[in-house]
Amino acid sequence: MKLTVVQDYDQMSKKAASLVAGKLKEKKDLVLGLATGSTPEGMYANLVKMYREGHLDFSLVTTFNLDEYVDLCPQHPQSYHTYMYKHLFDHINIKPENINIPCYTKNNLSASDACRDYDQKIVQTGGIDLQVLGIGVNGHIGFNEPASSLPISTHLVELASETIEANSRFFNSIEQVPRRALTMGLGPIMHAGLILLLASGGSKAHALKESFSGLVTTEVPASLLQLHPNVVVIVDRDAASLL
Ligand code: GLP
Repeated sequence: MKLTVVQDYDQMSKKAASLVAGKLKEKKDLVLGLATGSTPEGMYANLVKMYREGHLDFSLVTTFNLDEYVDLCPQHPQSYHTYMYKHLFDHINIKPENINIPCYTKNNLSASDACRDYDQKIVQTGGIDLQVLGIGVNGHIGFNEPASSLPISTHLVELASETIEANSRFFNSIEQVPRRALTMGLGPIMHAGLILLLASGGSKAHALKESFSGLVTTEVPASLLQLHPNVVVIVDRDAASLL
């Protein structure tokens, strides 16, 4: 694991964007695993800026998002579909057919069929080259919540109460936060060629400490990243305060 501690959110965002940009320049048909949440917003803004300045080309890129709420239509303002188009896809030259976000409301699929199709598509593209991750306050990655065991494949998950609470800031009330989500499992994440984990702010300090303590447990899903050979962690000083 390569840990970089930077001053603040802006520096984290710039550094993360330049890492992604570097990989994209090396491999034009990069397969990118993408995260949502507040953490990568600045990274996406920097990537959009680089694209507008003519430094990046997404025409051959394929993306796979980590997760999406269930019981929220893709057009909902707080869906991760809406988030991704707003922060990235609407502003770059990615082909719509190369964008993948877990969803089963689109084609009237059952959740298990949608999950199976999603995993198959990841395999068909040759797997994820670079997986961007945030981290939940409880150590979750994607929506892989702390549990006694974790599925390898994409699956339906009941969100943990800490996650519902943390994400209630995006909704008018906590009651409106969806209780279920589809999430990529640990399989595609751990098979990614490179994992880029980002964290900002003191609220993530405890989760980071637990994740990189030298112990591995599914009760802290991000701790499994210690078993991956190629992880880059970029965090600001507040998030790194307990490391
Ligand atoms: C969300 C997402 C995760 C994200 C995490 C942290 O619920 N499912 O992919 O990394 O929780 O979010 P934030 O960056 O807003 O703190």
